[in-house]
Amino acid sequence: MGCSDPTGTPPTCTVTVDLRMVGGMGGNITSCMPDTSQDNPRRAAITGVATYVPDRIVTNAELARTLDTSDDWIVTRTGIRERRRGGPGETTSTMGAEAVRRLMAAKGLAPDQVDVLIVATVTPDMFFPATACLIQDQVGLQSTWGFDLSAACSGFLYALTTGAQFVASGVHRRVIVVGADLMSAIIDPLDRTTAVLFGDGAGAVVIEPVERGGFLGFELGADGGGGESLWLPGSGSRHFDDPQSFVKMNGREVYKFATRVLVSSAQKLLDEVGMTVDDVDVYVPHQANIRIIDHAAKKLGFPPKKVVVNVEKYGNTSSGSIPLALADAAKDGRLKPGAKVLMTGMGAGLTWGSSLIEWTEEMAA
Ligand code: UT7
Repeated sequence: MGCSDPTGTPPTCTVTVDLRMVGGMGGNITSCMPDTSQDNPRRAAITGVATYVPDRIVTNAELARTLDTSDDWIVTRTGIRERRRGGPGETTSTMGAEAVRRLMAAKGLAPDQVDVLIVATVTPDMFFPATACLIQDQVGLQSTWGFDLSAACSGFLYALTTGAQFVASGVHRRVIVVGADLMSAIIDPLDRTTAVLFGDGAGAVVIEPVERGGFLGFELGADGGGGESLWLPGSGSRHFDDPQSFVKMNGREVYKFATRVLVSSAQKLLDEVGMTVDDVDVYVPHQANIRIIDHAAKKLGFPPKKVVVNVEKYGNTSSGSIPLALADAAKDGRLKPGAKVLMTGMGAGLTWGSSLIEWTEEMAA
C-alpha cells in the first residue's frame, strides 16, 4: 500500500489519466502504478450502481431511550436523524449479496459475465472464508474470483481503484465492487460516543470498459501511525490483556483528520488532473458527519447543490457510505453522461482516498 517516500511522510499515491491520451489508465502517473500506456490500456468506468439497506430504522429518539443522549445533540453535532440496523440473520454478506443481485438485475448481467468481485468491509461475516466468497456463493457467481479489502470508510475507494486497474489493463472485462458493513455488530450499544454515529448498509457498482470518460484519476493515502484513533482492538491475532470487541474512537482526533484530508485529497487529485472545483458537477463525500461534509465543501468551494448528502437517513455506514450516496445521486438524476463526479472518503487506518470520474454508462464494444 502506498509508495516509498524518502521524506518519511505518510505514504500517498496519486494516479491520474492523461486526458490527452486516447485510451484509458496510465500516462500521467506520478508514482507506484505501472505505466500501462504502452500496453493498449482501456478506459474504465462505473456503469451501474445498486444498494441494499436493512428495513429496520433506528431513530435518535429510540437511542435516547437507552443512552444518555438526545435527538437534539445528535442532529446538531452530526446531522444524523436515523440509521438502519440489520435484522435477525442479516450479515455483511447477505446485505452485499442483495446489492449485487439488484445490480445484476438492473444491468441484465448473467453470472458468467462477472469476472471479479471485490468486497470492501471491516465487518466480514468471519475472518474466513472471505465475504467475497460468501457473496459469490449466495449469488451463484461460479466463474468469479474475488477477495475482501479492509480500509474501513475508505474501503470502497480503495476497492474501486483496485477494480478499475483490472479493467483498464485489459486483464478483466467486468469487476463488481461491493462496499458493505454491518457496523451494529461491532459497536457497543451502550457507548454513546459511537452508537449514535454508525449504521448498516451496502452498495455495489460494476466497472466496465468504456469508449469515453470513466475514471480520470485517484488519490489514495494512509497514515498507520494514527491507527489507534479509530480501531477495533481485540478483534484479531494480537492478544490484549483486556480484549475489547467494540469499536473505540477518539472522535475529536478523527474529526480533525477528516476535515484535513477530505480537503487535501480532493485538492491534490484535482490539481493532478488539471481541473478545479468548478469543473466538478457532483461531489460525493464520505457520509460521517454533516459538519465534516459542510467544512470540506466550504473549504473546497462547492456550492450545496453539488454536494450529495444522505447522512441524515443512514448515519455512517463505513464501506457502504459512498456507494449509498452515489446511488442517491443517480436516483436524483444527477449522474448525467459527461458529469464529473468527485468522491472522497476517509476512515480508520488512518486512510483516505479520492476518485474522479466522468460519468458514462455506455460500455465499449
Ligand atoms: O468514518 C470516520 C468515522 N468517525 C468519524 O467521522 C467521527 C469524527 N468525529 C465526529 O464526528 C465528532 O467528533 C463526534 C460527533 C464524534 C463528537 O462531536 P464533538 O462536537 O467533537 O463532541 P466532543 O467529542 O467534543 O464532545 C462534546 C461533549 C462531551 O461532553 P463534555 O466532555 O463536554 O461534558 C461528550 O461526552 O458531548 C458529549 N457527547 C455526547 N453527548 C450526548 C459525546 N457523545 C455524545 C452523545 N450524546 N451521543
